[in-house]
Amino acid sequence: MSAFVINGGRRLNGNLRVQGSKNSVLPILAATLLINGKCVIHNCPALSDTECTVKILKSLGCKVQRDGTSICVDSTSATGFEIPGSLMREMRSSVVFLGAILGRMGKATISAPGGCEIGLRPIDLHLYAVKRLGVDIEESYGKLVCTVPNGLKGTKITFSFPSVGATENALLACVTAKGNTTIVNCAREPEIIDLCDFLNSCGAKITGAGESIISVEGVKELHGCEHSVICDRIAATTYLVAGAVTGGDVEIHNTVPIHLNSILPLLEESGCDVRVRCKSIRLKAPGRLKRIDKIITQPYPGFPTDAQAPFTTLTSIASGTSVIVENIFESRLKHVPELVRMGAKIRAEGRVAVVEGVERLYGAEVISPDLRGGAALVVAGLCASGTTVVKNTNFIDRGYEDFENNLCMLNADIYRKVKTDGTKEKKKL
Ligand code: EPZ
Repeated sequence: MSAFVINGGRRLNGNLRVQGSKNSVLPILAATLLINGKCVIHNCPALSDTECTVKILKSLGCKVQRDGTSICVDSTSATGFEIPGSLMREMRSSVVFLGAILGRMGKATISAPGGCEIGLRPIDLHLYAVKRLGVDIEESYGKLVCTVPNGLKGTKITFSFPSVGATENALLACVTAKGNTTIVNCAREPEIIDLCDFLNSCGAKITGAGESIISVEGVKELHGCEHSVICDRIAATTYLVAGAVTGGDVEIHNTVPIHLNSILPLLEESGCDVRVRCKSIRLKAPGRLKRIDKIITQPYPGFPTDAQAPFTTLTSIASGTSVIVENIFESRLKHVPELVRMGAKIRAEGRVAVVEGVERLYGAEVISPDLRGGAALVVAGLCASGTTVVKNTNFIDRGYEDFENNLCMLNADIYRKVKTDGTKEKKKL
């Protein structure tokens, strides 16, 4: 088990190019299964979730090759329709293969997906969507055996909640269905737009991406294409918050600033000077951060739940009291007790956290509860006095490419402590 060791108190400054989006590359790689040919996906981040997705594609018979940040997928000889349980359990987005496998093979067998334990994370909306398209689902020995007796047929799908993953599954299952599909109350995240852009480049006929209603005209077949994944707006946010809490001056490149429209105003409310250019965002922090009145997570274009944990860290050292409401996941405040261990003054009840800002945090040994909570603890270590050890880096490696080296490039003092044979520890230079 490895850990990040952070010696806090250094101002972050400098320039950083942000990775491609984890939550965009995963559904797009799954979508390559629909194409009876070759696709090349550029700007793919090197993450454990990306590697897991590649393993699933290979288990289904796809030929996959990574060349730097580009991944080439040839699905011509793909015949598989069942994902091994061990791979399903590795991440949440394994469930998004359901729509792609059904669209390509006409049948699919999956088990419950894994992913960060930030709530129950049921898949009822995913199953509702594919059933509406004509899929029969039988449960047997913990597996969902899906068949399409009369083929996938276009229909109207109305979601009770704009679920990102369920919207992706609905899109992947209906793009080659017979007839037209309308998806109502769908997710509007930039990652949905990116997936639709990729599918349209492959010959799909999707309109309305980014709106609450998406229309799809089913096509017979999709062809290969090249596509570059959008920048990771949550990773960009995390590095900006790291600059903010250390009194730093950081510039993040290769971003899409409009994707952070609900985030940048809160950074300014905390006293940061934020300058936006077409593909970069520069943040200069004040001497002392100011409180943020309310942080309320919502579906896009509202404030993203994935940015809540880093912002909890930011408000924990701001002057004044901030209120955080987590509306998307029912247990996504597990980083709070770890921040309290570092001297934060936070009262959390259910989905609400009241943060009374303190002058400074103190280094401690803490444990990552999940991907974004772990990143928030590393950010806390950057501004704490003394040394912080953040355990369970495996969670963080799921979503942040080369996290410690990127932070070092911004002048942080952080390294990864890797236990090799259970006794020795080595500093990764
Ligand atoms: C995606 O998860 C992201 N993951 C999450 O990012 C992100 O937090 C989330 O969307 C919301 O933006 C990926 O894209 C791989 P949802 P997803 O379906 O699709 C409930 C990160 O840190 N729900 O929009 O699982 C669900 O329980 C990760 O990068 C149902 O009830 O999110 C939750 O309360 C974490 N039934 C809410 O909807 C369903 O069938 C939002 O879930 C599906 C979801």
